[in-house]
Amino acid sequence: MTDPQRKFPPYERHVFICLNQREEGHPRGDCTSKGAPEVLERFKHLAKEKGLKPHIRAQKSGCLDTCELGVSVVVYPEAVWYKQVTVQDVDEIVESHLLNGVPVERLRMHPATPGDSGKHSPIGNA
Ligand code: FES
Repeated sequence: MTDPQRKFPPYERHVFICLNQREEGHPRGDCTSKGAPEVLERFKHLAKEKGLKPHIRAQKSGCLDTCELGVSVVVYPEAVWYKQVTVQDVDEIVESHLLNGVPVERLRMHPATPGDSGKHSPIGNA
């Protein structure tokens, strides 16, 4: 039974990290072999450490079909896709994008869309 006090959507930002894995030598490669498990753990660690869990959820996904650009990460609701994310990049994404609503341009797969100022709401304002 659904808790009537629970708000929906339950998170202000939802982070998907590809943890797909392919056999060694596959031409498309995979995000797991590029460090995706460590990236996911760092997102989860920071979400807990900074008390973001009521606002943000980071979780694994299957293949996001951008394998050549992995580790692939996508943040909703803005639909900002990040490429070649390393564990060292996670703190910047959390601080800039997840907390303050400013996507990390140097890691984006695509430029901001027309009409997108690049600035989104900080958490707690949803
Ligand atoms: S293996 Fe990660 S996007 Fe395909």
